[in-house]
Amino acid sequence: MSAIDIGIIGGTGIGRLADLQVTGRRVVATPFGEPSAPVLQAHLGGQEALLLARHGSGHTIPPHLVNYRANLWALKHLGASRVVAISSVGGISHDLPPGALAIPDQLIDYTWGRHSTFFDSVEDPVVHVDFTEPYDQSLRADILRAAVGAGLKIKDGGVYGATQGPRLETPAEIERLCRDGCHMVGMTGMPEAVLARELELNYASCAVVINWAAGRGERDIHGEIERHVADCMDKVQALLAVLLGD
Ligand code: HPA
Repeated sequence: MSAIDIGIIGGTGIGRLADLQVTGRRVVATPFGEPSAPVLQAHLGGQEALLLARHGSGHTIPPHLVNYRANLWALKHLGASRVVAISSVGGISHDLPPGALAIPDQLIDYTWGRHSTFFDSVEDPVVHVDFTEPYDQSLRADILRAAVGAGLKIKDGGVYGATQGPRLETPAEIERLCRDGCHMVGMTGMPEAVLARELELNYASCAVVINWAAGRGERDIHGEIERHVADCMDKVQALLAVLLGD
Protein backbone atom coordinates (compact mmCIF):
# COMPACT_ATOMS: atom_id res chain seq x y z
CA MET A 1 0.00 0.00 0.00
CA SER A 2 1.40 3.40 -0.90
CA ALA A 3 1.52 5.96 1.88
CA ILE A 4 -1.66 7.95 2.41
CA ASP A 5 -1.15 11.34 3.93
CA ILE A 6 -4.40 11.89 5.81
CA GLY A 7 -6.02 9.92 8.61
CA ILE A 8 -9.53 10.40 9.94
CA ILE A 9 -10.43 9.20 13.43
CA GLY A 10 -14.13 9.02 13.95
CA GLY A 11 -17.08 7.11 15.30
CA THR A 12 -18.34 3.98 13.63
CA GLY A 13 -20.60 6.08 11.37
CA ILE A 14 -17.47 7.08 9.54
CA GLY A 15 -17.37 3.67 7.83
CA ARG A 16 -20.84 4.25 6.41
CA LEU A 17 -20.10 7.44 4.48
CA ALA A 18 -22.27 7.47 1.39
CA ASP A 19 -19.62 7.81 -1.31
CA LEU A 20 -16.95 5.84 0.49
CA GLN A 21 -15.12 3.19 -1.50
CA VAL A 22 -13.11 1.00 0.82
CA THR A 23 -10.01 -0.23 -1.01
CA GLY A 24 -8.07 -1.80 1.83
CA ARG A 25 -8.24 -2.93 5.42
CA ARG A 26 -5.06 -2.96 7.49
CA VAL A 27 -4.69 -4.82 10.77
CA VAL A 28 -1.73 -3.12 12.42
CA ALA A 29 0.22 -4.60 15.32
CA THR A 30 1.78 -1.83 17.39
CA PRO A 31 4.26 -1.81 20.31
CA PHE A 32 1.33 -0.51 22.39
CA GLY A 33 -1.18 -3.21 21.60
CA GLU A 34 -4.10 -3.26 19.22
CA PRO A 35 -5.70 -0.20 17.67
CA SER A 36 -9.45 0.16 18.14
CA ALA A 37 -10.14 -1.44 14.75
CA PRO A 38 -8.48 -2.31 11.47
CA VAL A 39 -7.55 0.87 9.61
CA LEU A 40 -9.64 1.28 6.46
CA GLN A 41 -8.08 2.67 3.34
CA ALA A 42 -10.74 4.42 1.31
CA HIS A 43 -11.46 6.79 -1.54
CA LEU A 44 -13.46 9.70 -0.27
CA GLY A 45 -14.16 12.94 -2.07
CA GLY A 46 -11.50 12.19 -4.70
CA GLN A 47 -8.62 11.46 -2.34
CA GLU A 48 -7.49 8.42 -0.44
CA ALA A 49 -7.72 8.51 3.34
CA LEU A 50 -7.07 6.24 6.28
CA LEU A 51 -10.12 5.78 8.47
CA LEU A 52 -10.09 4.54 12.03
CA ALA A 53 -13.16 3.95 14.21
CA ARG A 54 -12.09 5.23 17.62
CA HIS A 55 -14.62 3.16 19.55
CA GLY A 56 -14.05 0.01 17.50
CA SER A 57 -15.91 -1.49 14.55
CA GLY A 58 -18.89 -2.36 16.74
CA HIS A 59 -18.70 0.82 18.87
CA THR A 60 -17.88 -1.16 22.01
CA ILE A 61 -14.79 0.61 23.38
CA PRO A 62 -15.61 3.33 25.94
CA PRO A 63 -13.57 6.56 25.94
CA HIS A 64 -11.39 5.65 28.93
CA LEU A 65 -10.45 2.28 27.38
CA VAL A 66 -9.57 3.49 23.87
CA ASN A 67 -5.98 2.57 23.07
CA TYR A 68 -5.05 6.07 21.95
CA ARG A 69 -1.36 5.24 21.63
CA ALA A 70 -1.97 2.27 19.34
CA ASN A 71 -4.43 4.28 17.23
CA LEU A 72 -2.06 7.18 16.59
CA TRP A 73 0.94 4.91 16.14
CA ALA A 74 -0.95 2.82 13.54
CA LEU A 75 -1.92 5.89 11.51
CA LYS A 76 1.65 7.18 11.58
CA HIS A 77 2.97 3.75 10.64
CA LEU A 78 0.67 3.65 7.61
CA GLY A 79 2.00 6.98 6.41
CA ALA A 80 -0.39 9.62 7.73
CA SER A 81 1.12 13.02 8.44
CA ARG A 82 -2.22 14.76 9.10
CA VAL A 83 -5.00 13.49 11.36
CA VAL A 84 -8.51 14.88 11.52
CA ALA A 85 -10.30 13.78 14.69
CA ILE A 86 -14.08 13.80 14.56
CA SER A 87 -15.22 14.29 18.16
CA SER A 88 -18.74 14.40 19.55
CA VAL A 89 -19.14 17.00 22.26
CA GLY A 90 -21.70 18.57 24.54
CA GLY A 91 -22.18 22.31 24.04
CA ILE A 92 -21.39 24.52 27.04
CA SER A 93 -21.36 28.00 25.53
CA HIS A 94 -24.58 29.47 24.15
CA ASP A 95 -23.23 29.59 20.59
CA LEU A 96 -22.74 25.81 20.51
CA PRO A 97 -26.23 24.27 20.46
CA PRO A 98 -26.82 20.70 19.25
CA GLY A 99 -26.05 20.51 15.55
CA ALA A 100 -23.21 23.04 15.69
CA LEU A 101 -19.69 22.35 14.48
CA ALA A 102 -16.52 23.82 15.98
CA ILE A 103 -12.79 23.61 15.38
CA PRO A 104 -11.32 24.04 18.87
CA ASP A 105 -8.02 25.87 19.28
CA GLN A 106 -7.37 25.07 22.95
CA LEU A 107 -8.12 22.32 25.41
CA ILE A 108 -8.16 21.54 29.11
CA ASP A 109 -7.48 17.98 30.18
CA TYR A 110 -9.56 16.56 33.07
CA THR A 111 -8.87 12.92 32.21
CA TRP A 112 -6.86 10.63 34.44
CA GLY A 113 -5.31 7.16 34.40
CA ARG A 114 -4.92 7.01 30.62
CA HIS A 115 -1.63 6.26 28.84
CA SER A 116 -0.91 9.82 27.86
CA THR A 117 2.64 9.72 26.53
CA PHE A 118 4.94 7.72 24.30
CA PHE A 119 7.89 8.94 26.39
CA ASP A 120 7.39 6.46 29.18
CA SER A 121 10.88 5.15 29.75
CA VAL A 122 13.36 5.97 32.49
CA GLU A 123 16.21 5.01 30.14
CA ASP A 124 15.62 7.72 27.52
CA PRO A 125 16.15 11.47 27.83
CA VAL A 126 13.11 13.31 29.25
CA VAL A 127 10.93 14.96 26.59
CA HIS A 128 8.46 17.80 27.24
CA VAL A 129 6.58 18.47 24.00
CA ASP A 130 5.45 22.03 23.34
CA PHE A 131 1.66 22.08 23.66
CA THR A 132 1.13 25.84 23.50
CA GLU A 133 -0.94 25.23 20.39
CA PRO A 134 -2.51 21.82 20.92
CA TYR A 135 -4.05 21.73 17.44
CA ASP A 136 -2.27 22.21 14.13
CA GLN A 137 -3.17 25.65 12.77
CA SER A 138 -2.75 24.80 9.13
CA LEU A 139 -5.02 21.74 9.35
CA ARG A 140 -7.54 23.77 11.39
CA ALA A 141 -7.58 26.32 8.56
CA ASP A 142 -8.10 23.57 5.96
CA ILE A 143 -11.06 22.15 7.89
CA LEU A 144 -12.59 25.60 8.34
CA ARG A 145 -12.25 26.28 4.59
CA ALA A 146 -13.81 22.91 3.80
CA ALA A 147 -16.77 23.68 6.07
CA VAL A 148 -17.33 27.01 4.33
CA GLY A 149 -17.00 25.24 0.97
CA ALA A 150 -19.66 22.76 2.06
CA GLY A 151 -21.97 25.62 3.07
CA LEU A 152 -21.77 24.76 6.76
CA LYS A 153 -21.74 27.16 9.67
CA ILE A 154 -18.76 26.46 11.91
CA LYS A 155 -17.18 28.06 14.96
CA ASP A 156 -13.52 28.97 14.54
CA GLY A 157 -11.91 28.21 17.90
CA GLY A 158 -13.06 27.30 21.35
CA VAL A 159 -11.77 25.44 24.36
CA TYR A 160 -12.39 21.68 24.48
CA GLY A 161 -12.71 20.25 28.00
CA ALA A 162 -11.73 16.56 27.99
CA THR A 163 -13.49 14.64 30.76
CA GLN A 164 -12.90 11.08 31.86
CA GLY A 165 -16.30 9.54 31.28
CA PRO A 166 -17.82 7.23 30.51
CA ARG A 167 -20.55 8.91 32.54
CA LEU A 168 -21.86 12.30 31.53
CA GLU A 169 -21.09 15.25 33.80
CA THR A 170 -23.13 16.79 36.58
CA PRO A 171 -24.45 20.32 36.00
CA ALA A 172 -22.06 21.50 38.76
CA GLU A 173 -19.14 20.02 36.88
CA ILE A 174 -20.27 21.75 33.70
CA GLU A 175 -20.50 25.06 35.62
CA ARG A 176 -16.94 24.50 36.76
CA LEU A 177 -15.78 23.72 33.22
CA CYS A 178 -17.51 26.90 32.08
CA ARG A 179 -15.73 28.95 34.77
CA ASP A 180 -12.48 27.34 33.63
CA GLY A 181 -13.17 28.66 30.13
CA CYS A 182 -14.38 25.50 28.36
CA HIS A 183 -16.84 26.00 25.49
CA MET A 184 -17.47 22.32 24.81
CA VAL A 185 -17.00 19.02 26.61
CA GLY A 186 -16.03 15.60 25.27
CA MET A 187 -14.39 12.42 26.50
CA THR A 188 -11.89 11.52 23.77
CA GLY A 189 -9.91 14.68 22.96
CA MET A 190 -7.13 13.74 25.36
CA PRO A 191 -4.67 12.11 25.33
CA GLU A 192 -5.34 11.79 21.58
CA ALA A 193 -4.17 15.33 20.82
CA VAL A 194 -0.94 15.15 22.78
CA LEU A 195 -0.02 11.71 21.51
CA ALA A 196 -0.43 13.02 17.96
CA ARG A 197 1.91 15.91 18.86
CA GLU A 198 4.46 13.51 20.32
CA LEU A 199 4.43 11.59 17.03
CA GLU A 200 4.75 14.89 15.14
CA LEU A 201 1.44 14.31 13.40
CA ASN A 202 -0.45 17.44 12.33
CA TYR A 203 -3.66 16.96 14.30
CA ALA A 204 -6.87 18.95 14.49
CA SER A 205 -10.29 18.20 15.85
CA CYS A 206 -13.68 18.73 14.26
CA ALA A 207 -16.04 18.91 17.22
CA VAL A 208 -19.65 18.01 16.55
CA VAL A 209 -22.16 19.18 19.14
CA ILE A 210 -24.70 16.41 19.68
CA ASN A 211 -26.29 17.69 22.92
CA TRP A 212 -26.31 20.53 25.37
CA ALA A 213 -23.93 19.74 28.24
CA ALA A 214 -25.62 18.65 31.49
CA GLY A 215 -27.79 21.34 33.01
CA ARG A 216 -27.66 23.50 29.85
CA GLY A 217 -30.56 21.96 27.93
CA GLU A 218 -33.16 19.28 28.32
CA ARG A 219 -33.09 16.78 31.16
CA ASP A 220 -33.19 13.94 28.64
CA ILE A 221 -29.68 14.18 27.23
CA HIS A 222 -29.86 10.79 25.52
CA GLY A 223 -33.07 11.73 23.72
CA GLU A 224 -31.42 14.94 22.59
CA ILE A 225 -28.40 13.03 21.28
CA GLU A 226 -30.62 10.59 19.38
CA ARG A 227 -32.45 13.45 17.73
CA HIS A 228 -29.32 15.26 16.57
CA VAL A 229 -26.70 12.65 15.83
CA ALA A 230 -27.81 11.74 12.27
CA ASP A 231 -27.95 15.37 11.18
CA CYS A 232 -24.52 15.99 12.74
CA MET A 233 -22.99 13.06 10.88
CA ASP A 234 -24.48 14.33 7.58
CA LYS A 235 -22.63 17.58 8.19
CA VAL A 236 -19.38 15.75 8.92
CA GLN A 237 -19.78 13.80 5.68
CA ALA A 238 -20.32 16.97 3.69
CA LEU A 239 -17.29 18.59 5.29
CA LEU A 240 -15.01 15.60 4.69
CA ALA A 241 -16.11 15.33 1.06
CA VAL A 242 -14.90 18.91 0.47
CA LEU A 243 -11.79 18.53 2.65
CA LEU A 244 -10.71 15.49 0.66
CA GLY A 245 -12.01 16.80 -2.63
CA ASP A 246 -8.96 18.81 -3.62
N1 HPA B 1 -20.19 15.31 27.85
C1 HPA B 1 -19.05 14.64 27.58
N2 HPA B 1 -18.81 14.08 26.39
C2 HPA B 1 -19.74 14.21 25.44
C3 HPA B 1 -20.93 14.89 25.65
C4 HPA B 1 -21.16 15.48 26.92
O1 HPA B 1 -22.21 16.11 27.18
N3 HPA B 1 -21.65 14.81 24.50
C5 HPA B 1 -20.89 14.11 23.63
N4 HPA B 1 -19.73 13.75 24.18
